[in-house]
Amino acid sequence: MYNIALTASLVALLAGLPAAVQASPSDDLKSFREYYMKRFPGIPLSEYKNGVYAINADARKSWEGIEEFPPYEDALSKGEKLFNTPFANGKTYASCFKNGGKGIRQNYPYFDSKSGLIKTLEAEINECRVNNGEKPLGWKKGDIAFISAYMASTSNGKKINITIPDDPRALAAYERGKKFYYTKRGQLNLSCSNCHVDNVGNRIRSETLSPSLGHPSHFPVHRLKWGEMGTLHRRFGGCNEQVRAKSFPAQSQEYATLEYFLTYMSNGIEVNAPSSRK
Ligand code: HEC
Repeated sequence: MYNIALTASLVALLAGLPAAVQASPSDDLKSFREYYMKRFPGIPLSEYKNGVYAINADARKSWEGIEEFPPYEDALSKGEKLFNTPFANGKTYASCFKNGGKGIRQNYPYFDSKSGLIKTLEAEINECRVNNGEKPLGWKKGDIAFISAYMASTSNGKKINITIPDDPRALAAYERGKKFYYTKRGQLNLSCSNCHVDNVGNRIRSETLSPSLGHPSHFPVHRLKWGEMGTLHRRFGGCNEQVRAKSFPAQSQEYATLEYFLTYMSNGIEVNAPSSRK
């Protein structure tokens, strides 16, 4: 017994992994969720698809007013039209995706075992174009946000279900995203979690800080500040810049793994896209 225990701890030491310290993704998910449940008692998990409006009743009222005539309606129908318009070779986006691209958003992003990379929905939209002889779209707004919004909307009501397959590269991608989320950056030296976990519900300038639980569920969003639709990675870039840190390119593996971590943390919450924000 003694020898076996010793050997196991030696192996852990040599691998540089304090085996007892590293939490598994499912442990992380449990404590991430529980933190918000304790912080906002009485707000069920299902509410977190509404972002900050889950926790701020006043802001919710004016938001519900806006959503009666959604500012993204036009973008959504453009997205549907683009999605159904054949490429020059006669094929459509539907040919590139499982189930013809309908009702699949809840499974993105995912770990791709062929490339060893995290694949986002936007990455696959552009991959589909390139494989069919079309030019890729810009990543942060415009057509890609419209198509992504339309595709996501066909998943509304389906629960986010991100998996981390039994592959060390998948776990490494998850850990990379997690590390990004908790690392302090920029001149203000703040991590994502400093604002969206530690200070969730508190005000910063005129805004209430939203929970990260559920963050990816309603993207892309139409923001009044942008006056248009933008993708989740556009928003990541904005939040990096808020702390005067350098942002990373949309669809970099930095943001793709961050999205992987955050979306895994939002497992069990319904897709509710697109949405509108201040
Ligand atoms: C200085 C505080 C601060 C930091 C640090 C910060 N954010 Fe934000 N973030 C905000 C504010 C303010 C908003 C707008 C109000 C809201 O929804 O929280 C926002 C909005 C968001 C949204 C949009 C929420 C929605 O429902 O539309 C996402 C997603 C997001 N942040 C992710 C991140 C990530 C990921 C990081 C780390 C890279 C990060 N934020 C770092 C302050 C911060």
